[in-house]
Amino acid sequence: MKILVIGTGAREHAIVHSLDRENVSGTASHELHAAPGNPGIAGVATLHEVDPLDGVAVAALAERLGAELVVVGPEAPLVAGVADAVRAAGIPVFGPSGEAARLEGSKSFAKEVMAAAGVPTAMAHVCTDVSELEAALDAFGAPYVVKDDGLAAGKGVVVTDDRAAALAHGAACLSHDNGRVVVEEYLDGPEVSLFCVCDGTTVVPLVPAQDFKRVGNDDEGPNTGGMGAYTPLGWAPSGLVDEVLSRVAQPTVDEMARRGTPFSGVLYVGLALTSRGTRVVEFNARFGDPETQSVLARLATPLSEVLLAAARGVLADLEPLRWRPEASVTVVVASEGYPASARSGDPITGIEDAESLPGVHVLHAGTGLSETGELVSAGGRVLSVVALGTDLADARRRAYEGVARIELKGSHHRTDIALKAERGEVTVP
Ligand code: AMP
Ligand code: GLY
Repeated sequence: MKILVIGTGAREHAIVHSLDRENVSGTASHELHAAPGNPGIAGVATLHEVDPLDGVAVAALAERLGAELVVVGPEAPLVAGVADAVRAAGIPVFGPSGEAARLEGSKSFAKEVMAAAGVPTAMAHVCTDVSELEAALDAFGAPYVVKDDGLAAGKGVVVTDDRAAALAHGAACLSHDNGRVVVEEYLDGPEVSLFCVCDGTTVVPLVPAQDFKRVGNDDEGPNTGGMGAYTPLGWAPSGLVDEVLSRVAQPTVDEMARRGTPFSGVLYVGLALTSRGTRVVEFNARFGDPETQSVLARLATPLSEVLLAAARGVLADLEPLRWRPEASVTVVVASEGYPASARSGDPITGIEDAESLPGVHVLHAGTGLSETGELVSAGGRVLSVVALGTDLADARRRAYEGVARIELKGSHHRTDIALKAERGEVTVP
């Protein structure tokens, strides 16, 4: 199959890597294309230059290539309606319409849909001015949770005990065009990401994963796009996936269909397992990064079959998904200064060395090529080192051995990805 993947991150590299594995194992022979892609993706797919936010240009590229499936990775093109343009050209596309992607693009819209569908989530106030903001902060009390209403690459949320900091963040969100800010009840308990593949009607959950959003060990420091992930979650209640399917994902997909804006693609359900039960923290309209790197590493069913079935609206016919029994740990290597800033242009070496370790592969995100063709850093999150192991301890050991073999001046990474889970220290209140 000719497949075009849109995006530039490690998530897109993970998708292309999984599709390429079908070629390597001989179960399929795909012709892989990506736009804009990155130097890692270029190892297994042909890259094309395109503005990923320009639906007409993406659809034209897909037509020119004769693509039989287009996969849109990131949220910004989805919210901009890129999947609609490709679908209008008659090409199967994996990813929701712009209307349906509002589940991620607007936190207040997501809250409205959750309320209509009876989905358990944090209580919230949508504020449009500072006096409403102050009233909402005082109504919920500390810890304060203040969220920009629009897309903010995981950085629009502040969780703090400091009322002044909460107020300052909220006021900054309000000062944007059409500024709206969502103030929420604080949710205690561990977080889980569950990706639900949808075709507008049917929902197929993948395996749950956990993400590490804060930049520092022990969840210290500011939020990032995500510094690491692992799966499986040995500590999670056994009925979790069924509960989320029946109380969250299916009611949401049904509500979106009822509204005439069916949701297809990945409904990313971000959950908190709180003392008062399972609550939705957020919806995203795409695969999560870096959880996808670990989740897809364990998927034994050919990924192309899953994506195509969703794009064609025939997920109900898909055989139950098969999973590898191993555990997977992903560690993100970030450039100096991330997330506040990101140093770029530094040489990266040691990737092949890392990949010579059993069960380890390295996915590119913020990488580029220098004028002399040398691999250099070109963004905040630079690489994802992904390891499969017999259990979390084994996968962790391999992932960190891989990280140790990579050299990038000034880079940093968390050293505690999956550590508490390995030690059995994650508890549900
Ligand atoms: P979001 O962009 O909504 O996913 O929020 C980013 C991160 O902020 C989440 O992964 C949580 O760690 C934290 N967060 C968001 N909402 C809440 C909440 N209501 N209570 C506690 N933490 C939250
Ligand atoms: N892992 C967080 C996200 O993709 O938004």
